[in-house]
Amino acid sequence: MSSDRRSFVKTLSAAGLAALGSSLAHAEPVPNKSGKRLRYAIVGTGHRHRMYRSAILGDYKEHAELVGLCDINPGRAALSAKVAADAGVKVPTYVAADFDTMVKETKPDVVIVTTVDATHDDYIVRSLDLGCDVITEKPMTTTAEKCQRILDAKKRSGKTVRVTFNYRYSPPRTQVKDILMSGEIGDILSVDFHWLLNTTHGADYFRRWHANKKNSGGLMIHKATHHFDLVNWWLSAQPASVVAVGKREFYTPAMAKRFGLSGPHERCRTCPEKDKCGFFMDLAAEPSLKALYLDNEHHDGYFRDRCVFRDSIDIEDTMNVIVKYDTGTTLSYSLNAFNAWEGYQIAFNGTKGRLEHSIVEQIYTAGTNQVQGGIAEGGVKTRVIPLRGPAKDYQPWTGTGGHGGGDKALLDDIFVINPPADKYQRNSDERGGAASILIGVAANQCFETGQPVQLASLVQGWDRPALTPMPTHLDPVPMPVRRPRGG
Ligand SMILES: NC(=O)c1ccc[n+]([C@@H]2O[C@H](COP(=O)([O-])OP(=O)(O)OC[C@H]3O[C@@H](n4cnc5c(N)ncnc54)[C@H](O)[C@@H]3O)[C@@H](O)[C@H]2O)c1
Repeated sequence: MSSDRRSFVKTLSAAGLAALGSSLAHAEPVPNKSGKRLRYAIVGTGHRHRMYRSAILGDYKEHAELVGLCDINPGRAALSAKVAADAGVKVPTYVAADFDTMVKETKPDVVIVTTVDATHDDYIVRSLDLGCDVITEKPMTTTAEKCQRILDAKKRSGKTVRVTFNYRYSPPRTQVKDILMSGEIGDILSVDFHWLLNTTHGADYFRRWHANKKNSGGLMIHKATHHFDLVNWWLSAQPASVVAVGKREFYTPAMAKRFGLSGPHERCRTCPEKDKCGFFMDLAAEPSLKALYLDNEHHDGYFRDRCVFRDSIDIEDTMNVIVKYDTGTTLSYSLNAFNAWEGYQIAFNGTKGRLEHSIVEQIYTAGTNQVQGGIAEGGVKTRVIPLRGPAKDYQPWTGTGGHGGGDKALLDDIFVINPPADKYQRNSDERGGAASILIGVAANQCFETGQPVQLASLVQGWDRPALTPMPTHLDPVPMPVRRPRGG
């Protein structure tokens, strides 16, 4: 049953609508020669769904049609429908309890899942069983049990699951894949990868639903799924075993006291020490945050500005992981959520040389109109150092918009009917989605037990994803050129 949109629309502030409407700025629609459009419904109408909604209503409107919107929070669903109506498209909204009804009434070809991470499996499985293909945001899911349900439903239904790993599509990361595929550094024996979150974006995970593992699986799943997927894809390898340690030592009540506060409080909005706190967030001051969250918290009691130092947080802020791949390659990875800058450094150690690559990301807060994962000016470095000989710096491939241009390239691949073949195999399905989250599941398990985890023990019927051929550990390698004085 469709809810009464008009009653919610009346409650929206003009400023909030202006802020949300601004996400509908488009280039020319992408032409469609196929003569058909696919029908899409979206479940989860928070911050991230706006990218898909804008794409369907804008650049890809010749390929795609938005037929339904669903959320547990009727206010947010109505807000989204209002933006669609302003773009000339009437879209019915449904509350979460009526998801199956939405699918039956609106008959989507594809359901896009952009809800809280721990609820993805439910909508993926229900959509598949109702005969729809699925596009899901990362992480595909948060536990091994939920992953198993998805693998089983995919096989049972014969429909498709696509996991939107947008980082694969960003030009400088595709360029790294291109260099690795070319064999310039030979086959890769080990990888050193360090991801840094700063105290703006990093701290924000500790304010929201992400701060509890039951919602997000912790940062090993919610955030590191991007990073583990990049390595799985860069290497074209399947993760086999994991050891890890993790702790929370920065976003804690003790740190609040070390920063001179009397302790954690419930939320920024009512905080008695807001003037003293460098982590204060003013939801009312940012029109987009206000419209999405503050104006709708009376529906579900979800506070977007909870104290980052509160005791009830149960995710880690400091994590170290070692992964062994089926190819024999090993990965050493760290994630710290309280750093001075945001981005990463990675090095691939190959039999012919080393590829060093780093990216500095721009300051960002989710739910605002800032560009997510945008790359700072001059923030990309990609260099190959052969075993013997001078280093070579690469001119980075570039793109604009979210995730360094990755979001736009991803949207082309998703929405354009019959997209061109992709030599980098950036499209991922449930097998790639599982490969990435199972590293995080294993790391979480190892945090508790201290014991190594074999990924094959976590799920059954998990097949190797389709990935590009890469140099192997059996290929001949040219003898390094002797240095002038030998050795
Ligand atoms: N690929 C990326 O770069 C990227 C970036 C941001 C978010 N994401 C992913 O997108 C998803 C949504 O994140 P977000 O930032 O939009 O969060 P959000 O909190 O802004 O939105 C989540 C929405 O889901 C709704 N919801 C919660 N439980 C639900 C349920 N059981 N049924 C229906 N709706 C429900 C909430 O009411 C909310 O509107 C997450 O899985 C997140 O990991 C991906």
